[in-house]
Amino acid sequence: MEESKILALSGSPRAEGNSSLILDKFLEGAGMEGVKGEKVIINQLNFKPCQGCGACNKDGICIIKDDMQKIHQMFEKAKGVVLAFPIHFGSMSAQTKMMIDRFQAFWAARHVLEKPRIREEEGKKGFYICVEGSNVKRFCRNAGEIVEVFFEILNIKEEGSLFYSQVRTSPGIVENKEALKEVMEAGRNFARELK
Ligand SMILES: Cc1cc2nc3c(=O)[nH]c(=O)nc-3n(C[C@H](O)[C@H](O)[C@H](O)COP(=O)(O)O)c2cc1C
Repeated sequence: MEESKILALSGSPRAEGNSSLILDKFLEGAGMEGVKGEKVIINQLNFKPCQGCGACNKDGICIIKDDMQKIHQMFEKAKGVVLAFPIHFGSMSAQTKMMIDRFQAFWAARHVLEKPRIREEEGKKGFYICVEGSNVKRFCRNAGEIVEVFFEILNIKEEGSLFYSQVRTSPGIVENKEALKEVMEAGRNFARELK
């Protein structure tokens, strides 16, 4: 089987919610360019939050053996990473942040051991999409800052981002044909960058 080039992560607890649908559209666009993607629902993973034990300072590997080991490898393999998440209480969903914190091992590999698990020369690319129910722009901006720091630490070059406000849980983004078209185009452009 051909390997996926794009790792698409949904940070919503709703497996078929807006973030997930957005990723489907993004990957549909990428598919038009012949680039395959794989979607992962963070909420369906079995993993603990970072325990701050510092063990990863020794070898850049997290000692907690759970699903995050596989996600670490998927990040290393993918050429591009797209992250879609909802705003919860003015910030990114807890699922998204919990995953990000487990990349402390990548921070340690790069900044303590000076052996980054993802090297800049690999040219790995990232994109993120934020959805919120309200129209408070600073929520997505704040959450976006966290993703940008995350990508920067991992040596992932951010290619772009999209924010969607006033997207309710139901009926949600499915009603916004313009937004879905924009997401599909973004996926298409992102895929072109990966070829
Ligand atoms: C626990 C929880 C907290 C939320 N807090 C906010 C919030 O602070 N601001 C906001 O604009 N929307 C908030 N929302 C609404 C979601 O961001 C919005 O419905 C989004 O479209 C859901 O995306 P999803 O379908 O991918 O889960 C919240 C939703 C939940 C479930």
